[in-house]
Order: sequence, then C-alpha cells, then structure tokens
Amino acid sequence: MIKIKSSAELRLMMESNEIAAQALALAGRTIRPGMSTWELDKTVHDFIVRKGAIPSSLGYAGFPNSCCISVNEELIHGIPSKKKIIREGDIVTVDVTTLYKGWQGDNARTFTVGKVSPEAERLLKVTEEALWKGIEQAVPGNRVGDISAAVQAHVEAGGYHVVRQYVGHGIGTEMHEDPEVPNFGRAGRGPRLVPGMTICIEPMVNESTPEVKVLSDKWTVVEANGKLSAHFEHCIAITNDKPLIMTLESH
Ligand code: MF3
Ligand code: CO
Ligand code: CO
Repeated sequence: MIKIKSSAELRLMMESNEIAAQALALAGRTIRPGMSTWELDKTVHDFIVRKGAIPSSLGYAGFPNSCCISVNEELIHGIPSKKKIIREGDIVTVDVTTLYKGWQGDNARTFTVGKVSPEAERLLKVTEEALWKGIEQAVPGNRVGDISAAVQAHVEAGGYHVVRQYVGHGIGTEMHEDPEVPNFGRAGRGPRLVPGMTICIEPMVNESTPEVKVLSDKWTVVEANGKLSAHFEHCIAITNDKPLIMTLESH
C-alpha cells in the first residue's frame, strides 16, 4: 500500500531528510586516507544523535552500525569496521538513514578519496547523472517505470550495469515502504506517481556485471567480479509540479 503524505507530514519528513543530508555532507568533508570506516561511522552517528535524531540503520534487521560504508567493489551495506582503512584512490559510498519526529530520511553518495582513476571518476559521474535522470521523471502522471527506465537507459548508455537484486523504495514512517523503485524497467509501467508520494531513487551501478554477491558477514554486497560499484540516493516527494528533493542541504 502506497501511503500519501499530507503537507504537514512532508514538512516533518523534510526535517529528517535535512539531518540525513547534513550527516552525509559531513561524512564527505571528514573522509580522508588513513581513517577507518568505523571512525567515519562514529562521526555520522554523533552528528545525528546531536541533532536529536536516531540513526535508523543501527539495529535495522540487525545491522550493527549507524550508516553503511562501502568501499570500491562494495556496492551497499558495508559494515563500518576499525580494520577497514580508507586509502587514497578509493571510492567510498556512505548511506545515511535517519529517524526524526517519527519520520525517516535516507540518502547516499559515493565519494572519491584524493585522486582516483579516470575509470572511477566516470563511473561516479554516470551514476549520479542517472539519479538526476530518474528524478526528472518523478512528476505526477508518470509511472514508477518511467523513473526506472530513465535510470537504466543512462547507466547502460555509459557502458555500465544496473543491479537488479536491490531497488529504491517508498519511505515515510518506515524506512522501506511501497512502492519498489527499481533501477531497471519499462517506461509507462508500474504504479502511477501522485502528489504526496515519497520515494528514494537510488541507482546502484556496477562496472562489469549486473550481478552481485553478499560477503560472509551477511551484509556487504559486492560487484560480482570485484570491479568498482557506485550508489547515489536522494529522497524526494512528488508534488504538483517539480519533484521536491528533500535530501538537499538547505543550511
Ligand atoms: N539506507 C538503505 C536504503 O537506502 C538501507 C539501510 S540498510 C541498513 O534503503 F541495514 F543499514 F539499515
Ligand atoms: Co539509503
Ligand atoms: Co534507500
């Protein structure tokens, strides 16, 4: 069931997403070679708590930390660890989910650490562009499939692969609500978009294959061939005209 949010509810969701966006930006400013992903998680955790919010990844289905941090071939759900040291040339995805006044916020971005390869730069560029292509389609009257098809077309035109096993999602009082928002599919299909729908659009893109594997830690999802992967996510609301991007920092 897709839950339509009132304008009062949207205002609360914007507050949660603002905190999620600020936490993600803070992670981007904090990240440096030599630090562990645990330290980066701690920075994110402390910020969210200081804002009076809850890092809703912590304990979600047993996830042990406050955000997901995924390095290089790791796509999503990387578990922060004192043993995982970030190096110059890495690409690092941070995915931050917040709960504030009962409402969820969710966003992610793949950051570069120092100088990265031109291949990595291009992967990140195409993945972020694909997110914006998807967002452009998030207007009333369109369907979820219009978002999916736009994301997939841009990724594949870039020579990359969209992951099928994991998808974007509706969001509200729950982190994951209906509808599913796949990064693949056909224009004109799927649920119709109406004002008050709130969704996370989140292209998950692999360099060499659409396939993924889950590591023995039961969480970390990696590119099946060990090549690079990238992930960008915004939380948006469908409005009467342009999508409202709730995970842009306003201050
Ligand atoms: N933030 C993720 C998403 O985009 C979900 C987090 S998984 C968790 O849907 F286990 F870390 F919570
Ligand atoms: Co997320
Ligand atoms: Co999400």
